[in-house]
Amino acid sequence: MVKPRPQIDQIAMYSPGKPVEELKREKGLTKIVKMASNENPFGYSPLAAEAIRTEMKEVPLYPEVTSPLLAEKLANKLAVSSDQVVFGNGSDEIIRLLTRTYINEGDEVVMAGVTFPRYKTNVIIEGGVPIEVEMEEGGVHDLEKMAEALNEKTKMVFVCNPNNPTGTIVHKERLKAFIEKVPSHVMLVMDEAYYEYADSPQYLETIPLLNQYKNMVILRTFSKVYGLAALRIGYGLMAAEMVNDLHKVKEPFNINRLAQAAASASLDDDEFLYESIRLNKEGRELLTNQFEAMNLSYFPTQTNFIMVDTGYPAKEVYEYLLNLGVIIRPGHLMGYPTMIRVTIGEQKDNQYFMDCLEAYLKEQQKDEKGVLKR
Ligand SMILES: Cc1ncc(COP(=O)(O)O)c(C=O)c1O
Repeated sequence: MVKPRPQIDQIAMYSPGKPVEELKREKGLTKIVKMASNENPFGYSPLAAEAIRTEMKEVPLYPEVTSPLLAEKLANKLAVSSDQVVFGNGSDEIIRLLTRTYINEGDEVVMAGVTFPRYKTNVIIEGGVPIEVEMEEGGVHDLEKMAEALNEKTKMVFVCNPNNPTGTIVHKERLKAFIEKVPSHVMLVMDEAYYEYADSPQYLETIPLLNQYKNMVILRTFSKVYGLAALRIGYGLMAAEMVNDLHKVKEPFNINRLAQAAASASLDDDEFLYESIRLNKEGRELLTNQFEAMNLSYFPTQTNFIMVDTGYPAKEVYEYLLNLGVIIRPGHLMGYPTMIRVTIGEQKDNQYFMDCLEAYLKEQQKDEKGVLKR
């Protein structure tokens, strides 16, 4: 057999949230509620839908290589310069491009102990060394410990803010102090995939810091609140020199025409954006109120998903919910064996999930004689 590079043996396949089609086939169910991949349950902008339809006639032609019109529009909206913007086939691709471009074998990359798994995978592929720093109680990055982990071998540090899978943010003042401590030879990657959902006054706006900290990269995406996950488009904001580096490494036609058109139109639709944020907040309130009424602890979330502690093995809860047609993410895969991560859905789906969870907990709490199991 032809052998892969040794790094490849160290990584596992990415395990996505179970697809709806697969569950329907497996269980013969008709009603499926997918609350596993933090997609937007409210769809996407009708302006984007229209733009996709219009762009369809251009499908035989390759797209523009650096999405210049979109870069210009986004840059204006975010008050950055258009040469500070790079697009990726999802922000996933930008993570890949950053490690591909900057990580040498043996370079250390610091990240939180429980965070988005693609950082670690991509670092390993390049022969880098992931340094995972234990989370604080409450699922928050321990920024002081992360700062202590930086040394002359460190090339990059990832801060996922808000963090996936815990949904938590790092508080403004702590983050500012951390940013100050990151040496200029270390790239600081702020992954803000859920930026639009964060409404805490404690959330730090990083774009105004971009020109001051030339080693900072900000990642955002059209996959979450904009609802364009299938089209695959995310972006990175960074010093123009780094954008040039990434442009040399990326595939020339990484952002297809439909994605460029849809992302551009989405930027014109604040109504869809704010309505998605509002509905998400409503769902967040329904879930957290009911968790509290049921005495279940959860991580305070600034995203469109929430991690809750059921007190029972996550795998079991996952299987139970799956049988009722609800797909969530079990926490044992992420270092929280009794927690589950649920994407905030449409209100009727949030309620259905809560009803199913309540039914599970009732079943667990009593055996046939009505005696508590644990
Ligand atoms: C924290 C974080 N970063 C990046 C991504 C990648 O998103 P995309 O590649 O769809 O832009 C995700 C997706 O779930 C995420 O949760």
